Amino acid sequence: MSASPKVQERVDALRELLHHHAHRYYVLDEPEIPDAEYDKLFQELQALEEAHPELRSPDSPTQRVGGGVLEGFARVRHKVPMLSIRTETDIEASGARSFDARVRRELGLGEGDPPVEYVAELKFDGLAISLRYEDGVLVQAATRGDGEIGEVVTQNIRTIGQVPLRLSARGKGTPPVPPVLEVRGEVYMRRDDFERLNEQQREKIARGAKNEKTFVNPRNAAAGAVRQLDPAIARQRPLSFFAYGWGEIVGGPAFETQYELLETMRAWGLPVSQHTRRARGAEELVAFHQSIGASRDQLPYDIDGVVYKVDSLALQKRLGFVTREPRWAVAHKYPAQEQLTTVESIDVYVGRTGKLTPVARLQPVFVGGVTVTNATLHNEDEARRKDVRVGDTVIVRRAGDVIPEVVAVVPDKRAAGAQPFTMPTHCPVCGSDAVREEGEADYRCTGGLVCGAQRKQALLHFAQRRAMDIEGLGEKLVDQLVDAGVVRTLPDLYRLGLAHLVALDRMGEKSAQNLLAGLEQSKNTTLPRFLYALGIRHVGEATARDLARHFGQLDTIMDASAERLLEVPDVGPIVAESIHTFFAQPHNREVAEQLRACGVHWEDTEPTAQAPKPLAGKTVVLTGTLPTLSRDEAKDLLEAAGAKVAGSVSKKTSYVVAGAEAGSKLDKAQELGVPVLDEDGLRRLLSGGEA
Ligand code: IVH
Repeated sequence: MSASPKVQERVDALRELLHHHAHRYYVLDEPEIPDAEYDKLFQELQALEEAHPELRSPDSPTQRVGGGVLEGFARVRHKVPMLSIRTETDIEASGARSFDARVRRELGLGEGDPPVEYVAELKFDGLAISLRYEDGVLVQAATRGDGEIGEVVTQNIRTIGQVPLRLSARGKGTPPVPPVLEVRGEVYMRRDDFERLNEQQREKIARGAKNEKTFVNPRNAAAGAVRQLDPAIARQRPLSFFAYGWGEIVGGPAFETQYELLETMRAWGLPVSQHTRRARGAEELVAFHQSIGASRDQLPYDIDGVVYKVDSLALQKRLGFVTREPRWAVAHKYPAQEQLTTVESIDVYVGRTGKLTPVARLQPVFVGGVTVTNATLHNEDEARRKDVRVGDTVIVRRAGDVIPEVVAVVPDKRAAGAQPFTMPTHCPVCGSDAVREEGEADYRCTGGLVCGAQRKQALLHFAQRRAMDIEGLGEKLVDQLVDAGVVRTLPDLYRLGLAHLVALDRMGEKSAQNLLAGLEQSKNTTLPRFLYALGIRHVGEATARDLARHFGQLDTIMDASAERLLEVPDVGPIVAESIHTFFAQPHNREVAEQLRACGVHWEDTEPTAQAPKPLAGKTVVLTGTLPTLSRDEAKDLLEAAGAKVAGSVSKKTSYVVAGAEAGSKLDKAQELGVPVLDEDGLRRLLSGGEA
């Protein structure tokens, strides 16, 4: 049956897409879609071509192993082609069973025949490399390229500490290293190295570096490093290596099994995974798949599946190849750790400490073994860098215990008119101002005392021994009180009655009485403790003490401008701003008022602060007799306010204060136009007002 135009159209479209994505992946190291998505498209094309062989064409992406050659690297033809392996798409146990059944059929084994011996390995998620050793010395390293011709990346591979530059036979009974040995294996990046690298990349970008980028996943970072044209840069990228196979071998001993060869490679100094196992028959493969699947998250690197290989080299030879895949090996995958999904909304989550975190709410997607419905965007800078917008199609990744993350947006799928995300200026929970301090990555809610999200934390801090020291109020009780809805704000604590408390789970009358007594006792406190207890950001015990000493009373602190706060020793601009913003929130002032109304009290102290000097720089002349103040008293008051008291009137005189029987000084003042005050005017002036 010949294919309909519709099928032809789909095949063309798939080829187009696959070419595009293969180029992004292999040549640019910047994939736009997850592997699983690529595989899906690839398999769809494969299926169509199988159903309609007349549509096959030599330039179809199905007709080559994949990859391309970067301009800039020398090319080399592999003496033994670097093949790929067939993938069992079935992620359940049956993947191992169907492979075993196929092998047995090909070998003509019946039910009565013994189980086939296999080697089970991890399928490392990196990129394949061929290392050529001549007389034990590393002479060349090449990428797979298209399987036939690869790129020579020896310089970059030499920078990997785990790749021996020279092999030698270690241990008793180890055969000598053959004169020519091609080792095949995987270059990969550990997850912690990957996180560190991306962290460094982010710092470089933040410092304004133009040609830097972060990497989507460890495999991409590894591929980018191996194919980095500048070996100096490649050297800074932390790579690792595992050997799992071989290409050309000339001379040397004869081997009988895969396992034996791997063990011997280990004895020659090559890194071979400790997880490699021998397995008899399908059920031991199933067990391997399951046990690795369960511990996959604990591995320090990504794997995307396991690989089963027939152990006997003679049987491998008998089984041979189909097109470019050996019949004696198969990859059995795990659920992908990256998937495509769409962003339904971007919400802002407020943490216990008031930190605002933008979170992408996702169309639920099964990734890395769990259903993911949201992913953190970390903070404003990250959200901006990734430019995730509502409605976007994104790649979500969940690997290891790492929390799910949006790694990138698929730009082609963005709807017209999608709006960039911006951080809110107010806390989405309590409406208080949200501020981002200089040099900080995070926005924070300033409504510490009233913000529902921070309630428990605020209460616990308040009750602490070094703060209000409320005996008997610990974490469990705070949880209970908040969850039961009896305590929402700090003053609510002082409104608790016996009835509220005994209604709680596991709360006897005795402990309820004790808590009430503890609350009562805590009311008698000090200003430093009270200030500290409020939980103002950046106000620790020392700062609270300094503030109390400087201002003496709460109201002055609540009304102080940031400038006045800066006068406190050891208070810098960030702390001053934080205190000012805190008391600028009406909710916070209200809480402080209510606490006092509930009976929280302390003794005010004399401020050590210099009293304001409203008359600094002024010159005043006294003349005549004032109704209540003596001349000396008036002089002291004026000087305390910063004024200079002079004996004669001149053009420079600011004021003349005149009482009864003022003489020539008053005339002179009037002549020069100097303002003249009586005692009331003087008092107004001293209190900082207009005369
Ligand atoms: S064997 C002829 N073993 O998976 C068999 N491959 O298509 C050749 N891979 O990109 C491959 N771990 O780099 C083999 N333990 C392992 C592997 C492994 C990862 C990669 C390989 C290639 C792909 C196979």
